[in-house]
Amino acid sequence: MQVGFVGWRGMVGSVLMQRMREERDFDLIDPVFFTTSNVGGKGPDIGREVTPLKDAKAIAELAEMDVIISCQGGDYTSEVRPQLKAAGWKGYWIDAASTLRMEDDAVIILDPVNGDLIRNALKQGVTDFIGGNCTNSLMLMGIGGLVRENLVDWVSSMTYQAASGAGAQHMRELLKQMGAAHASVAHLLEDPSSAILDIDKLLTDAMRGDTFPVDQFGVPLAGSLIPWIDKQLENGQSKEEWKGQAEVNKIMGTSETIPVDGLCVRIGAMRCHSLALTIKLKQDLPLEQIAEIVASSTAWTKLVPNERDITARELTPTAITGDLTVAVGRLRKLNMGPEYVSAFVCGDQLLWGAAEPLRRMLRILLD
Ligand code: HSE
Repeated sequence: MQVGFVGWRGMVGSVLMQRMREERDFDLIDPVFFTTSNVGGKGPDIGREVTPLKDAKAIAELAEMDVIISCQGGDYTSEVRPQLKAAGWKGYWIDAASTLRMEDDAVIILDPVNGDLIRNALKQGVTDFIGGNCTNSLMLMGIGGLVRENLVDWVSSMTYQAASGAGAQHMRELLKQMGAAHASVAHLLEDPSSAILDIDKLLTDAMRGDTFPVDQFGVPLAGSLIPWIDKQLENGQSKEEWKGQAEVNKIMGTSETIPVDGLCVRIGAMRCHSLALTIKLKQDLPLEQIAEIVASSTAWTKLVPNERDITARELTPTAITGDLTVAVGRLRKLNMGPEYVSAFVCGDQLLWGAAEPLRRMLRILLD
């Protein structure tokens, strides 16, 4: 199978290459690497020779592929996918960008929770398989079992989203901000007798000052947060918040829409998104049963007991980062009533939220 890769050099693409090497996916395919800037250049290190880079805008060369995996971004998808279609290309298009996600003839891929839907779509001739929004993919990796069992009346999802969701440059800027914040008070920190309120004042002045590095985020994130992600919609939602209901229901193929809504917040984590969920169940179930169903969501879902020490150790971005495990904890009944349950989900947004579903879709095609 000839598989073309576009956008393999960027952050999501690099994680994809790394995961494909780890899982020896390249042994099973004939990979061809494309570029928008370095035609004829050298492809990535995949443990064996690869042909020189081909032009990612050359439709005839792309059309020779059985599968194309794009991490190049939405503009590329909008430009190239229609041209391939017009050229009569019948191959599979696997894409990390959101452009085609909500198209009727596209499936959002998250096979540990919607593998059956994906396989049915393949039988029906669907060729566009698109990675989901990271936050919602992680939500379903965490509590998808409850949705699958048709137990969820609605979900309110309050998110704590890492810098990586905004891009590599944003991750760098977060670190620069941390450095600038520290540098602004380093001399006082070294003096044990300095007053904490003096330190705080100096730090605040630095964060509000003109020289604090904010080119990417526009405002400080380190030592602060940003309660808005993506575009502003007319109904007061952010685009990121809008995606919750739209994508969760599409991924699960629900016959009746499950309301999903809440506020999406950028925080100073590097690459793990977290979500604080309020789940209204359709019935009052014992907590042990709910925990069992949550734990069975996927093979990567790990239930963290609702206890203080283990939660602080295991249910955090620091604990989870770089790992395929999606941790779920803080599971308890809420004061609102016996059908109301809380949960806290934490997962690496570059893995399940971006690269992993793409390589797993390729494996499904190879089955
Ligand atoms: N939109 C997400 C974020 C990233 O900004 O965190 C990818 O889905």
